[in-house]
Amino acid sequence: MSRASLEKRPEEVQAMFDDVAPRYDVVNDILSVGQTRRWRKIVVDAVDAEPGQRVLDLAAGTGTSSEPYADAGIQVVACDFSLGMLQVGKRRRPDIDFVAGDATNLPFEDNSFDATTISFGLRNVTDPQKALAEMLRVTKPGGKLVVAEFSHPTFAPWRTVYTEYLMRALPAIATKVASNPTAYVYLAESIRAWPNQDGLAAWIDAAGWEQCRYRNLSGGIVAVHRALKPLGGAPGGGAETDAAPEHAAQASAYLRHHASRRVL
Ligand SMILES: C[S@@+](CC[C@H](N)C(=O)[O-])C[C@H]1O[C@@H](n2cnc3c(N)ncnc32)[C@H](O)[C@@H]1O
Repeated sequence: MSRASLEKRPEEVQAMFDDVAPRYDVVNDILSVGQTRRWRKIVVDAVDAEPGQRVLDLAAGTGTSSEPYADAGIQVVACDFSLGMLQVGKRRRPDIDFVAGDATNLPFEDNSFDATTISFGLRNVTDPQKALAEMLRVTKPGGKLVVAEFSHPTFAPWRTVYTEYLMRALPAIATKVASNPTAYVYLAESIRAWPNQDGLAAWIDAAGWEQCRYRNLSGGIVAVHRALKPLGGAPGGGAETDAAPEHAAQASAYLRHHASRRVL
């Protein structure tokens, strides 16, 4: 299996995750020097779900990002399109509801979740803007979106060090610990190609979410974006990405007037 190209053909991304599934969690912990646990706790706190609520954890992979909700008695649906990842997850946590589904065409009814979250998955989706619109469609009015994704370090010297670490060290380390090191070359490249914090916030606005705010973790290596679905439902029909340019113009105007959206 070769690495998924940055054009992100869905079948390549799917096959790549099927391939890395058995060692996915171990390699993640090693490569992020244990930081993932702290990041995950911050995501769960941002979702802030209560027992009785229904949470969609999209691109859930092996369900590591879904477990804290299940442990807290919250009904969580772990959805992913890699059967390999889902199988590893189901073996480990048979109590969690694992559902096969594509983020750009979700197999769920409109307005069916109190909160929708996606951790380290949106970057891999072929059409992330469409996925944001789909997440809006399946979330209840007033419901929450929480996106955790690798981002851009804010301190310029640190950004340089980080970029060097990513582009040079990560593939070399991955060669020693991962079964498919080329997947981690893709990881490094896809992080570099991903929009920065304000860029992702503009996409979230453009999809029809409101009050988007983000928090930088580990100096911006990761950003957690949070937004709400308008109480009146989705502007422009929610799943209609055709409305995006109009929303994008509004989002840019918003950004021009709000120098920093970081409030978490
Ligand atoms: C890096 S893993 C993250 C897994 C989990 N959320 C976590 O935090 O450990 C990214 C996941 O995104 C999934 N993915 C990528 N594109 C997808 C799509 N279009 N629909 C559903 N899942 C997708 C992959 O199969 C993979 O399991």
